[in-house]
Amino acid sequence: MGRVLSALQPSGFLHIGNYLGMIEPVLILQEQHENFIFIVDYHAITVPQDPKKLREQILFALAVYLASGIDPQKTTIFQQSAIPQHTELGWILNCVASMGELERMTQFKDKSRNKGEQVSVGLFDYPVLMAADILLYDTNIVPVGEDQKQHVELTRNIAQRFNQRFGTTFTLPKPEIRTHGARIMGLDHPEKKMSKSAENPKNYISLLDDESAIQQKIMSAVTDSGKEIIYDQNSPGLANLMTIYSLITQKTFEQIQEEFEGKGYGDFKKQLAQALIIFLHPLQEKIHLYLKNEDELKRILHEGSLRAQDIAEKKMKQIRKKIGVTL
Ligand code: ADP
Ligand code: TRP
Repeated sequence: MGRVLSALQPSGFLHIGNYLGMIEPVLILQEQHENFIFIVDYHAITVPQDPKKLREQILFALAVYLASGIDPQKTTIFQQSAIPQHTELGWILNCVASMGELERMTQFKDKSRNKGEQVSVGLFDYPVLMAADILLYDTNIVPVGEDQKQHVELTRNIAQRFNQRFGTTFTLPKPEIRTHGARIMGLDHPEKKMSKSAENPKNYISLLDDESAIQQKIMSAVTDSGKEIIYDQNSPGLANLMTIYSLITQKTFEQIQEEFEGKGYGDFKKQLAQALIIFLHPLQEKIHLYLKNEDELKRILHEGSLRAQDIAEKKMKQIRKKIGVTL
């Protein structure tokens, strides 16, 4: 039984890509491993956040975890900022990570593009805090979407370097990336991943989208000019819609092809929209129920943070000794 750890940023809303790429894999792993899942509020402030909204977003992210079936009895759920050891280890790892390796991170390049000198130091340093998140708990497996693979690889490099310099201290984590669904593409631009920061809401299906929004977004999703419903990576728009349909209905691509034999894109899109509505409806109801009970949400976070704190402080004691600051 290894340790599984993952996290989400509380940055507004969550989309179906976040659910299929990260939350669902965590649900599957939750049954066989010791699990940690948390809300990375200190990662979220690497871009400006309205403090009042941030608080709501943290509670929302937790409600999504719980509504999805992440069980606080099986999984330690907490808020990153409640465990100061994350930022403490982040600082130490800053002194092990190199500028060169951080400069190669594609997410930083994407997120800082056109922002010039205004970009925060935190955005640049974000992967080092993520490495601290992972290494603090001797994590074996990190379920993430494809875009985070590079950050987990960086974490391994930092851990290896630290282990060489100070003696074996950290477990080397592995990213767990599902074969289909690790990179759900934007509905309006199927060559780029579905993203919270997309300007056009037609890029994504939010977990809270209502029936008519889902129908409109799916019907206007970009597809190529083909006719048949056949999975082909050279038709990225259709392949993406088929991937979503396959994951939420648990049908294989062959089954989907059979289901829509002789039918066109319009029929398929209608059916996909309907399947998404059916899939999201119970999730939305549960999210709203959890959000009504703020005290319960805070209690769950508090209990999780007590468990996490215990493990994190034990690890920090070892680390402080290794680097020579414990007198
Ligand atoms: P975003 O990039 O939309 O802001 P986050 O960075 O908060 O989302 O990602 C949260 C989790 O969801 C991460 O594990 C990430 O890899 C995963 N994820 C994000 N976008 C997608 C996507 N389009 N397809 C699959 N997984 C995704
Ligand atoms: N960087 C991740 C994202 O944007 C979130 C994250 C922070 C994370 N710390 C982590 C994911 C540790 C997995 C493990 O999605």
